[in-house]
This record gives sequence, C-alpha cells and structure tokens, in this order.
Amino acid sequence: MNLSLSEKERQEQRKIQLFTPLSDTERGWGRGQIRLVELTLKNYGKLPPAICYPGQLNQVFMNILSNAIDALEDANQQRTPTEIDLHPNTIWIHTCLVSENQIKISIADNGLGVPDTIITRLFDPFFTTKNVGKGSGLGLTISYQIVTELHLGKLNCNSTQGLGAEFVVTLPLKAKKIQQQQVNQ
Ligand SMILES: Nc1ncnc2c1ncn2[C@@H]1O[C@H](COP(=O)(O)OP(=O)(O)OP(=O)(O)O)[C@@H](O)[C@H]1O
Ligand SMILES: [Mg+2]
Repeated sequence: MNLSLSEKERQEQRKIQLFTPLSDTERGWGRGQIRLVELTLKNYGKLPPAICYPGQLNQVFMNILSNAIDALEDANQQRTPTEIDLHPNTIWIHTCLVSENQIKISIADNGLGVPDTIITRLFDPFFTTKNVGKGSGLGLTISYQIVTELHLGKLNCNSTQGLGAEFVVTLPLKAKKIQQQQVNQ
C-alpha cells in the first residue's frame, strides 16, 4: 500500500512545536456530568520545533487516540460502575526529547491491551478486531506509513494483555527526506 500525498499536502510541511500547549495538567473528557476518560498529559521539558507535516501527524495522533477510546469502552463492558470509579479510564500522553535530534510521544491507555497473538499484526492493512462497519483496519497502517515513510520515525506498540496498550511515536526533528524535499522546492 502506498501513501500518496497530493502536491498541496506536500507543501504543507511546517516547522512546528508539537504538543506545545500541553503542560503538566490533568483533564477529564466528559459528556454532561459523566466523566468518560481521564486524560493525563505530561511534557518533560519544552520540545524543540520539528520539521513535519502537521496535518498528517494530527491524523496519526487522532487514530491512536480513537483506538484508545475504543479499547477503554470495550474494557468498560466487563466492569461495574464501581470498578470504573475505582480505576478510571485513563489515557496518558507523555512527550519528551530523547536526543538532540529526536522526540518521543507516547500515548498509553488502561484498556484491555493487545493479546500477544495479534500484536505483530496491528499495523497490517485491514487488520481489525472491531465489528463490521466499526473498524476498517487501516488507522494504524496509515499511521505507520506517515511516521516511518514520511517522517523517517518509528511507531511501536507495547502491551500487556489485560493491562492496557502504549503506542510510541519517535520522530527525528529534521528527517533527511524532509530536508531534501525543502531543498528541491
Ligand atoms: N489501544 C489499543 N488497545 C487495544 N487494541 C488496540 C489498540 N489500538 C489498536 N488496537 C487493535 O489494533 C487493531 C487495528 O487498529 P487500526 O486502528 O489499524 O484499525 P481499527 O481501529 O480496527 O479500524 P480503523 O481503520 O477504523 O482505525 C484494532 O482493531 C485493535 O484490535
Ligand atoms: Mg483505528
């Protein structure tokens, strides 16, 4: 499967600070009075600006977050309201600078996690465990391509079944391929 960007999308490359507005905060996502998900955001220091495709990366983070929400909803089916109150559904977003030219964004949830038997297939095209009509199995495939091919970064999943899943995006601040495209413009 090929990730093809239109000319307009190619020109949408920007130097931006990812996750800038997030400080050490904690928020709840809710509908009315019912708190659905506890969102914990943690920035380990200010991230330097990264040369990237913000629209494409936004799609990656939205795919990972919507999967996390689905996983939490699934986990809730097996829990009583009291259990949910004692161990609230949580999504943790951590960002940090790992080296001079590399940043890491980790998005973790305390849903049911991914069984060992399928963890190697998560990024495969059309792989889904969701009902027909709910999942197409392309969210992570596209995200993987955006991170690895377009930004020369890495996308990995760590999970312990029953305890949740963590998706880690590692991005170079300046990918060679991206720099090359700038030179050519
Ligand atoms: N946070 C998570 N916790 C548990 N399983 C997950 C998580 N994220 C992804 N998965 C598993 O990986 C599969 C593939 O995810 P992917 O986003 O590619 O497709 P999808 O969510 O099923 O469909 P869509 O194309 O609508 O995104 C999911 O069906 C689910 O089984
Ligand atoms: Mg998905």
